[in-house]
Amino acid sequence: MSAPRPGLGAVTRGRILFGGDYNPEQWPEVTWHDDVRLMRDAGVNSVTVGVFSWSRLEPRPGVREFGWLDRLMDLLHEHGIGVVLATPTSAPPPWLGRLHPETLPRDADGRVEWWGGRQHFSHSSAVYRRHAAAITEDLAARYAHHPALTLWHINNEYCTADWGDEAAARFRDWLRARHGDLAGLNSAWGTAFWSQGYGDWAEVLPPRHAHYLKNPTQVLDFKRFTSDMLLECYTAERDIVRRHTPGVPVTTNFMPLWAGQDAWRWAEEEDVVSVDLYPDPRDPHGAQHGALVQDMTRSQAGGPWMLMEQAASAVNWRPVNRPKPPGLNRLWSLQAVARGADAVCYFQWRQSRQGAEKFHSGMVGHAGEHGRAFREVGRLGAELARIAPEVTGRHSRADIAVLHDWHAWWASAHEGRLSTRVDHADLLTTWHRALWRAHLATDFAHPEHDLGAYRMVVVPQLYALTDRAVENLVGYVRDGGTLVSGFLTGVADQDDRIREGGMDARLRALFGIRTLHEWWPLETGETATTDAFDGTLWSEEIDKTPDAVAEAVYRGGDLDGLPAVLRTGRAWYLSTLPAPDALRDLLASIARDAGTGPVLAGLPADVEAVRRGDLLFLLHHGRGTVTVEVPGSHRDLLTGTVHTGTVVLGRYGAAVLAP
Ligand code: GAL
Repeated sequence: MSAPRPGLGAVTRGRILFGGDYNPEQWPEVTWHDDVRLMRDAGVNSVTVGVFSWSRLEPRPGVREFGWLDRLMDLLHEHGIGVVLATPTSAPPPWLGRLHPETLPRDADGRVEWWGGRQHFSHSSAVYRRHAAAITEDLAARYAHHPALTLWHINNEYCTADWGDEAAARFRDWLRARHGDLAGLNSAWGTAFWSQGYGDWAEVLPPRHAHYLKNPTQVLDFKRFTSDMLLECYTAERDIVRRHTPGVPVTTNFMPLWAGQDAWRWAEEEDVVSVDLYPDPRDPHGAQHGALVQDMTRSQAGGPWMLMEQAASAVNWRPVNRPKPPGLNRLWSLQAVARGADAVCYFQWRQSRQGAEKFHSGMVGHAGEHGRAFREVGRLGAELARIAPEVTGRHSRADIAVLHDWHAWWASAHEGRLSTRVDHADLLTTWHRALWRAHLATDFAHPEHDLGAYRMVVVPQLYALTDRAVENLVGYVRDGGTLVSGFLTGVADQDDRIREGGMDARLRALFGIRTLHEWWPLETGETATTDAFDGTLWSEEIDKTPDAVAEAVYRGGDLDGLPAVLRTGRAWYLSTLPAPDALRDLLASIARDAGTGPVLAGLPADVEAVRRGDLLFLLHHGRGTVTVEVPGSHRDLLTGTVHTGTVVLGRYGAAVLAP
């Protein structure tokens, strides 16, 4: 048995990590001294260094220039600031691409992704991997015993795919491991269709540019392969740094709800789960988007997690980028802490003056230490330090799990589907939003996870399910759980082969569907009226079994009189998407019957309540003033005030209540 891995607690030690990506190579050394002074002022205790430093560390092949990083690490340490040290492998130096063009990825059209941006590496390139391993090895050896080192950050937002020749060779190896021989591959990919039968492995390619619709299982396997190849790149570097520093935890930062990585699988390989999160300050659903990503990250971590990046104010990659209005940075930061973050960090410390992100905010913006953003950052740093001792390390589990699986997402996204309006991530968001608006706390789970601890499990949509997942859902209901599923669930198996009858027979039996005759997708603006609500997006022509109850029935149109919502015991099936308020109310009422309810009764619409251990966070996402009824007396950790019966929250106000 290997020793247990250190987690985030080994780094935080009762503090909330506060800081951000720090790119000192963009500044003269004299500025570094100003930086550490301001970091101290702002309560920064952690910075992430080296994310894009490869060409500085290795300006020519094999040359190492660590002197500047030595001085920087020493300076940070002298000022009590810990370092999350990144391997620089997400942005190879130009010489690598020039000397070894095969390290550059190609897109599906065969175009090369050149240097001049970032992430221009082929996950499959042996040369890239060798150079990445070498710089990682030397970095780890050099700083293994540096007292500033707290955490390893591998690469950055792994996200590249590659359709090139070396990737094709690795894809074949990957496919051999998955499907055995060519007969297995031909069967899984259904190559009897359109004369696609493969007679030699050399014919098997990534799904490159093609005349018309590509083979869906080839596309699905390529997405799996891409996630696995990137994971191999991650674990290779992780294993190097672990060998040098067994006591230092390792992370890599996820993008939120990102289609390119099976994050359930990845999280198992990390000591600390971290995520980057950039809700749009102008999006009325921004807070819920944040809540979704935070719920998912907490669930992947199974404990405290790290908000690796957020923006102090504006980003620069939306069509129109507005700053965060006063108070919003604080509110969204506390929202992350409420949902289990023990680290609140930013991209980036000091706003760049040059390069592609010079209009992206920093903790220290172009306005410098007198700018509003920095002043707000400093106040937040002080508040986080105040609440940290009573907050860190605590974990909460919700009563409700929302199921999500990347493989189902990938399979569902094929271009030959019945409606491009149906999108896995949109549905996940819509269902989570309904639960969030009902003030119901949610975890996320994988369909093969043990669901026994949850009172209610909801499946916005899981188009493809393994047999194991199907059995898991059936078993969950058999053991007394309440399951609510949306349409297009269990339609296909893991190879995207449609299940007999258009939906897995075990699931049809579970929900009381005798025959699923036809799918009836809806146009934009079109609704399917039922006797209970208006359905949107989708509808279905279903016959029910005698024991199933039609909880809502289509009225008018081609489906008149057919069931829209079916229930058999504790298993619910929604063949359409109820309008937002109806979905919220339906899920709230099913939750009540399942024995769970809102985090706090009687909450105003704009106020979110989140429990973390026995702490109660109140977060006001509106701009007016609200009064929240909270039975009993509570001490607000932010202010020290004791509230009895009510808490008044102003614009973007927050309270962290201890019993
Ligand atoms: C992240 C990335 C950072 C920075 C940031 C800008 O995706 O990791 O390096 O580019 O976005 O919002």
